[in-house]
Amino acid sequence: MEKAKQRMLSKLREECQAMVRGVYPDREKVLVFGEGNLDARIMLIGEAPGEQETLQKRPFVGKAGKNLDAFVEALGITREELYITNVVKFRPFKIHPRTGTLSNRPPDKEEIGLFYSSLVREVEIVDPAVVVTLGNTALKALLDDRKAAIGALHGRPLTLPGEKARTLFPLYHPASIIYNPKLVEVYQEDLQKLKALMENSEV
Ligand code: URA
Repeated sequence: MEKAKQRMLSKLREECQAMVRGVYPDREKVLVFGEGNLDARIMLIGEAPGEQETLQKRPFVGKAGKNLDAFVEALGITREELYITNVVKFRPFKIHPRTGTLSNRPPDKEEIGLFYSSLVREVEIVDPAVVVTLGNTALKALLDDRKAAIGALHGRPLTLPGEKARTLFPLYHPASIIYNPKLVEVYQEDLQKLKALMENSEV
């Protein structure tokens, strides 16, 4: 199974790379693809890579990745048991007009739209039972609903639209905990709910 999935994912990545080259012919975009266990029961979907992720070409290896490790620990699993990816596969950044330094920004509608169909395909190929969205961008993209809001939907299972019935479990983005410590408790409660879901159901 893993080999067939690996082949399909490699092809998808090549197509994605070609699509991005076509859209940005004059710009070198570093793409950071998903990684992890191709037979994972849980697939995590973040927003987009940041600086560290782009340098290492791996998702969630920077600051937000540290919180993710705590996530994994709370679930009583290892990172090797998960598949982790992002909605947008390159780093959206802005340039400071005076200093010229780059900083992260949320991906815009066009950037999300560019990667939408390959994200849907990535979910189908990995075929997890539960898709965990991290933050608003991934939640809105996966529900294909711009009005969906993490504040209202976090911590309870929903049905992921698509050909095959899957559970969508929205969580706050790990980075939002860095900026808003009040969310730590909520995030931990949500993780326990996800843990119970994984333990008590067939998923
Ligand atoms: N934030 C994300 O959403 N994804 C990453 O890969 C890193 C930080």
